[in-house]
Amino acid sequence: MLSQRGWAIVLFLNLAFIVSRTSLCSIGKRTYSYIGEDYPMRLPIKLEPVQAQFDCSLRYSLNSSVAAEVWTKSTDTQSGGIIRLGQDRRVFAIAMYHQLHCLEGLSKALTATKRMPATDGHVGHCLNYLRQVFECSADATEEPVVKTSMLKSQGCAPSFIRQCSNWSTLYDFITANYLAFHEFKVTNGTWSCSGDENKEKAAGTSNRTIQADLCALSASGQDNLNAHGH
Ligand SMILES: *[C@@H]1O[C@H](CO)[C@@H](O)[C@H](O)[C@H]1NC(C)=O
Ligand SMILES: *[C@@H]1O[C@H](CO)[C@@H](O)[C@H](O)[C@H]1NC(C)=O
Ligand SMILES: *[C@@H]1O[C@H](CO)[C@@H](O)[C@H](O)[C@H]1NC(C)=O
Ligand SMILES: *[C@@H]1O[C@H](CO)[C@@H](O)[C@H](O)[C@H]1NC(C)=O
Repeated sequence: MLSQRGWAIVLFLNLAFIVSRTSLCSIGKRTYSYIGEDYPMRLPIKLEPVQAQFDCSLRYSLNSSVAAEVWTKSTDTQSGGIIRLGQDRRVFAIAMYHQLHCLEGLSKALTATKRMPATDGHVGHCLNYLRQVFECSADATEEPVVKTSMLKSQGCAPSFIRQCSNWSTLYDFITANYLAFHEFKVTNGTWSCSGDENKEKAAGTSNRTIQADLCALSASGQDNLNAHGH
């Protein structure tokens, strides 16, 4: 049996726990203005872990008549991987879609009949960006070893299972955001893509052409990221 003092301690610890969780929750739920640097690093969604099988893909092969179309479609959401957040509906690109967009660019460059400076620029950006993404995510998954000769002859590695984040949740989230944004545009009558671009310009800080491009696309209703060429 616990003494009265013992119970008091248990009660105190319980209360302390509840208070700490509550304040932690409110930290998690803090609201952001999405002006300047006042925005969270990640979207406010939880992507549950899911198991996915990695295997060969005929669909995403490089050398097929539909390759270009298939790679383009990988980023082909209504929103083009763009999201609008906060009161101003500030435009952000979402990393996964930016990464897919890069792969599309790389596949295009590999299938192009001749090299172009603009393509080289995009490829250079994408290679460096993807390098940083891979290092940043430091994925420690153990993968089965494959004979290089087999990869070369069949373009194919044995399938294996790995843990992923549920990307469907992300697709759902940005689709909902896209629909809500278009509803907002209709009810508000107008949308000025203030984002932070104007504020940055006013402050004389660096131009962010990507942001400006996305604003222009958003305003014209062509949200597909594939339409912009950074
Ligand atoms: C692509 O396929 C065609 C016809 O099947 C073949 O001639 C060509 O060498 C292939 N190219 C590559 C890069 O594999
Ligand atoms: C992944 O997310 C989607 C959409 O949110 C959901 O329908 C699906 O059940 C989830 N999959 C798993 C394996 O949890
Ligand atoms: C909503 O419309 C008003 C004009 O009616 C405009 O000043 C405002 O910038 C619009 N809101 C956004 C987020 O663009
Ligand atoms: C930003 O863009 C304007 C006009 O496009 C240009 O005159 C200015 O030099 C640019 N500023 C920077 C910091 O690149």
